[in-house]
Amino acid sequence: MTEQDSVQVSDAPTVNVVNGDEPGAVQVVNGDAGDASAPAALQPPKAHIRPLSVAGVMEHALQHRERVGVQDFVLLEDYRSEHAFIDNLRKRFHENIIYTYIGNVLISVNPYKNLPIYTEEKTRLYFKKAFFEAPPHVFAIADNAYRSLVYEHREQCILISGESGSGKTEASKKVLEFIAARTNHLQNVETVKDKLLQTNPLLEAFGNAKTHRNDNSSRFGKYMDVQFNYEGAPEGGHILNYLLEKSRVVSQMSGERNFHIFYQLLAGGSEELMKKLRLQGRPEVYKYTLDSSPSVGQKMNDAEQFRTVQEAMKVIEIGEPEQEAIFEIIASVLHLGNVKFVQNDKGNAEILNHDANSVNVAELLKVNITKLREALTSRTIDARGDVVTTPLDLEQAKYARDALAKAIYDKHFSWLVSRLNSSLTPKEKDPRASVMGILDIYGFEIFPKNSFEQFCINYCNEKLQQLFIQLTLKSEQEEYLREGIEWELVDYFNNIVICDLIEQKHKGIISILDDECLRPGDATDGSFLERLTQQLDGHRHIKSHRKVDTRTQKIMGRDEFCLVHYAGEVTYNVNTFLEKNNDLLFRDLQMLMASSGNKIVGQCFKDMKPNSKKRPDTAITQFKVSLNELIKILSSKEPSYIRCIKPNDAKAPMHFDDKLVGHQVKYLGLMENLRVRRAGFAYRRTYEAFLERYKCLSPATWPNYRGPAREGVQKLVETIQYEREEYRMGNTKIFIRFPKTLFDTEDAYQIKKNDIATIIQSRWRGYYQRKRYLQMKQAAVVIQKWVRRFLAQRLRERRRKAADVIRAFIKGFITRNGPETPENRRFLGIAKVHWLKRLATRLPTSLLDPSWPTCPATCTEASQELRRLHRAHLSRKYRLALSPADKKQFELKILAEKMFKGKKNSYPGSVRERFVDDRLSEELRVLRNTFMASPTWPTGEKLIYSCEAVKYDRRGYKPRARALLASDKALYVLDPSKRTFKLKHRLPLDRLRVVLTTETDSLILIKIPQDLKKDKGDLIVSVSHLIEALTIVTDHTGKPDIVEIVDTNTIAHNLVNGKQGGTIEVTTGAAPTIHRAKSGNLLVVASP
Ligand SMILES: Nc1ncnc2c1ncn2[C@@H]1O[C@H](COP(=O)(O)OP(=O)(O)O)[C@@H](O)[C@H]1O
Ligand SMILES: [Mg+2]
Repeated sequence: MTEQDSVQVSDAPTVNVVNGDEPGAVQVVNGDAGDASAPAALQPPKAHIRPLSVAGVMEHALQHRERVGVQDFVLLEDYRSEHAFIDNLRKRFHENIIYTYIGNVLISVNPYKNLPIYTEEKTRLYFKKAFFEAPPHVFAIADNAYRSLVYEHREQCILISGESGSGKTEASKKVLEFIAARTNHLQNVETVKDKLLQTNPLLEAFGNAKTHRNDNSSRFGKYMDVQFNYEGAPEGGHILNYLLEKSRVVSQMSGERNFHIFYQLLAGGSEELMKKLRLQGRPEVYKYTLDSSPSVGQKMNDAEQFRTVQEAMKVIEIGEPEQEAIFEIIASVLHLGNVKFVQNDKGNAEILNHDANSVNVAELLKVNITKLREALTSRTIDARGDVVTTPLDLEQAKYARDALAKAIYDKHFSWLVSRLNSSLTPKEKDPRASVMGILDIYGFEIFPKNSFEQFCINYCNEKLQQLFIQLTLKSEQEEYLREGIEWELVDYFNNIVICDLIEQKHKGIISILDDECLRPGDATDGSFLERLTQQLDGHRHIKSHRKVDTRTQKIMGRDEFCLVHYAGEVTYNVNTFLEKNNDLLFRDLQMLMASSGNKIVGQCFKDMKPNSKKRPDTAITQFKVSLNELIKILSSKEPSYIRCIKPNDAKAPMHFDDKLVGHQVKYLGLMENLRVRRAGFAYRRTYEAFLERYKCLSPATWPNYRGPAREGVQKLVETIQYEREEYRMGNTKIFIRFPKTLFDTEDAYQIKKNDIATIIQSRWRGYYQRKRYLQMKQAAVVIQKWVRRFLAQRLRERRRKAADVIRAFIKGFITRNGPETPENRRFLGIAKVHWLKRLATRLPTSLLDPSWPTCPATCTEASQELRRLHRAHLSRKYRLALSPADKKQFELKILAEKMFKGKKNSYPGSVRERFVDDRLSEELRVLRNTFMASPTWPTGEKLIYSCEAVKYDRRGYKPRARALLASDKALYVLDPSKRTFKLKHRLPLDRLRVVLTTETDSLILIKIPQDLKKDKGDLIVSVSHLIEALTIVTDHTGKPDIVEIVDTNTIAHNLVNGKQGGTIEVTTGAAPTIHRAKSGNLLVVASP
């Protein structure tokens, strides 16, 4: 809700007074006709009356109405009942809640004790707070006014009223203190603020006094303007004072005191000062302060206050000389009161020569002592040029003395105010400055005996009430016109009729009084009353003794008249009316004072122009003029009201006197006030604001109404089923007549609020969680993205590396046979490793396995070396695994190789066959054994080899079967044909030579030296395993060179004695054989 659309909550419909004489006869006319028929005073004003004012107060009040009573009386159901009204006040008062609203009017009940409601913390609670956000408080009023002033540039005034002791001055101080605290953040205002705040103790010292009602009663009216610059900082002030109760200077009711300053000076003045002022520190020695015999505590308090006053003077920049002058005046008043008159022989008053008091006065005021005494005891009258001096009688002299005292004090007080003003005036005039006025003025007074002062005070209150009505009504009327709401008759009393009764030109009471004062002849208070009775006969609001019924006549004096004020009847005693209204000071005294060496007194009295022929205005006329000026000032501003009530007469806390409060409620017009505000519609709110608050009550408007707000509200009220008389639809606002309707709506809203809270909560939670979810999701996506990116990058990196590796590998492969490069080095390394690995698994396990895995070209050497090593290893393994027999076998084979390889063609055929040293058949073996066992076998000879053989005769080449045995010494040729071995030859091995062919045949030609055989010659044999036999035997003999292999086709062999015998022909053929050829030669056919 903005401040603009917030309006006064509870003002009544505009009332239009038809007949001023008729209290309660108020007609509310139709909006259209209103303008024409309304009196000028009630025409809508130009300025808006607090349009922002109580934004939301009602809502706050609605919510908190159960707490203690109602915060706003507008919500009081039984608003016509004074009883209910007081009840509410009392309930709250007993809970220490002293503030309550009637709309935007603050009602404050004096607690008579310090409540913790003005602390810094509480003060801050109201800073910039919308009005409704905090409970009713004077700070709320102050803050509201301050904001309207600073932010909307509407000048403000805060009107504080109430009877004496009800807390007006306190409230005004709180307002000022709040403003000071509120503007704390603004710089350079400290001194101004100090000055503004310090005016209070100063004015209170000089203008306040202890009365029965109030220990610190303001005895003057005060209107204070606080000026703010465009920033909202206070920059100055101005004070207007009204009607100081100067009679108090010379006399007080018993139990009351004179103005504080007298006691304060007497108790607190320094010795030096007291000596200078010729004062004694005891008030009881002075006539004007006689009635007080202060307690010790009171005295100390006074002394303390005096220091406060001096401090305040310093702050306000009242210098030493001025202070001195002021205290001289105070002292001289005290001395003046003690001036004694004696009656001389002529019956005239006289001051004795030795009267020290008059001397003191003269010296303090710096006037001629003789002239002073004269002026106090005689009177000079200027009657058309003839100056006549007449002596005064005792009474007249006392009157003159008191009049002088009052005049001096009164004028000096006014001087003080103007002195404050000059100190408060801002140094530079700021055209953008705006003003907040605070009016702390005496409230309505009804005493057992009411005099001129009460008349003035009550007149003032009538005027203020009138202003209140006007402002309230104006704003109300405006509102109704604006909104096009028709209006109805409202029972309401307008006090304009009383104002008129008092101040109307030529006819009013003031006129009559002035006439009476000014007219030539013997005017008295009595003659004034007479004229009053005559002229105002029949007026409903005035009663004179003569005109009232006999019952009242008994209570009323003959010198009294009774005014029926809006607040109640007040009976005034006309005694001293004329005198007080004339307010005359004898000219001699005036002139004497004008000559005073005391600057203040001299200045004050010079201004009076005693020589002027024109009579000065009477007191009441002066008052009327200043009052009207005040009203003018106030009407130009936006008012806020603080109505103060005092709960009891005993100044006691927690005591609530219903009767006393009831009386004040009545004369403050609070019931009227409430009635006005409640007369029409208790509540009004712009459609937007109303819809915003209560839209949840109708499905049609919840959660949002899209159309115009007015339409929405119409739908809303249809749903909540408002009756026709309960509400009206204005142009921009809805008006609700009864609080109950609103309460019901509010209750429904409060209940609904819980549901809505749940919905909002769930929505919010949903929203919140979804938001979180989305956030997380998004975060996950981001993370995912980055992870993917990272992975992809890594993959790409790996691929690239792999590609590089592959490329390098291929390149390495391609250049594997070239000179070493980084690429092929790597490739080759790999190839080597692979080859080695492969090799490890494929190594031949047998020596006979010739296979060998292929190797990279660069490894050929290594491969070969490895192969060699491997084979060596295999061989070693093989060798180690060999049996001695096998070993022998290999030795034999190697021997055979040496002897025959490449020399004899049958050699390869022999390689595969295992050499055996016994080639005999079983049969022959037996024979051999027998042979060897016979003595023919020389002992110790070892058999080396046995085989069968065929022996060819040297002549005729006839083949004969033979067995051959070789021992380590000799070769035995045996004939096995006779079933025994018959030794044919024994040939020592070391003498033999052997001849062989190169062919594949079995022929051995054994050459025998001649000396061995006498006749036989060489031995020709055929042995099946020729190579085996020769190898084994050679192995034993160790003489391989005995074997001769000849590569010829013919071999000659010897016969006996070395004679050339036959020839052996060697040839090859398909059928190998050895036989005698036709040629007679031995033909050896070898395998090809
Ligand atoms: N709000 C308040 N809190 C406490 N005491 C207060 C308050 N208002 C008034 N008083 C008491 O009541 C006394 C009279 O108040 P004051 O403002 O001087 O009355 P008024 O100016 O209306 O005559 C004060 O001196 C003070 O002791
Ligand atoms: Mg006061």
